[in-house]
Amino acid sequence: MRILAIESSCDETAAAVVEDGRTVLSSVVASQVEEHKLYGGVVPEIASRRHAEAIVGVTSQALQEARMELSQVDALAVTYAPGLIGALLVGVNFVKGLKLATGKPLIPVHHLRSHIAANYIAHPDLQPPFLCLVVSGGHSHIIEVSDYTKLRVIGRTRDDAAGEAFDKAARAMGMPYPGGIHMDKIAGGGDDGAFRFPHPRVDGAPYDFSFSGLKTAVINQIHNAAQKGIELPVADLAASFRKAVVDCLLDRFIKAARDTGATRLVTAGGVSANRLLRARLEEECRQNGWELFMPPLSLCGDNAAMVGAQAYYEFLSGRSAGLDLNACAAMSIEE
Ligand code: KG4
Ligand code: ZN
Repeated sequence: MRILAIESSCDETAAAVVEDGRTVLSSVVASQVEEHKLYGGVVPEIASRRHAEAIVGVTSQALQEARMELSQVDALAVTYAPGLIGALLVGVNFVKGLKLATGKPLIPVHHLRSHIAANYIAHPDLQPPFLCLVVSGGHSHIIEVSDYTKLRVIGRTRDDAAGEAFDKAARAMGMPYPGGIHMDKIAGGGDDGAFRFPHPRVDGAPYDFSFSGLKTAVINQIHNAAQKGIELPVADLAASFRKAVVDCLLDRFIKAARDTGATRLVTAGGVSANRLLRARLEEECRQNGWELFMPPLSLCGDNAAMVGAQAYYEFLSGRSAGLDLNACAAMSIEE
């Protein structure tokens, strides 16, 4: 089954053709990051306008690279939640237009489910059940994936997402948007014991995260130093902050794995590109004899191939939508 998938939930306009959930026939991503960089973050109104401009070209290119006509695909898929509402609506309405024109089935896909599905593309032997750490710019979750479309949240952030914390701390350190990747690079040359940051826990919720205190701690440290005219060593600051975030993520994820008896661990989302997170998780899994699956860097960020992958399993489980499909800014991954 060949699915034409569209993604427009944030600042990437993407289209892909994916066969049977696992084989990518084409994947095109048009990033708007250079424009949003000027403002230090994604400007929702600009994101929607750029999606509207790019979506036809990106889709045509995806079909062309897959050497297919629209009439030859078996189904259409789109990210419909969660994300920036104006951005999601561009993809949703575009795909509804394609459905109206072709009569093909339309499969709505949850953005975080698709991040997890990036692993099905990269690892043909990966099947549920597994425990997944989903860490993106907007979300940080520990998810029990018992089947392709049966997911349960067992841990979540109470405030900022890990990616958001990285981006805001990186911005305070003078790095361009999105700062997570820059901080990761600079941290490589720093001393992670140079600064001590809090490792907040959430009372009564052993698998939940809280990153806003950590983010505020580093921002306060930078502002205090600036007021005193002191220049902080950015590499040491970045290394110490990255370590604190990764400590928190791994502490909860490893505990969840032990408590649930999971032996297959998976990561997903933009922050799973983080080098320290990957290295530490590899070591943990090696020591515990757990299997580990992580997306390659090219599939960590937003793309439509992962949407096409998850859509296949959604379709097999009976999910499809009509022309009344709407976008949702917020939605649980369990729905
Ligand atoms: O999954 P994603 O592409 O978009 C959302 O669905 O949010 O995640 C983007 C996030 C950004 O916050 C970005 O800074 C972060 O992933 N990110 C990283 C790294 N690469 C991307 N954070 C830490 N280390 C990285 N290497
Ligand atoms: Zn994403």
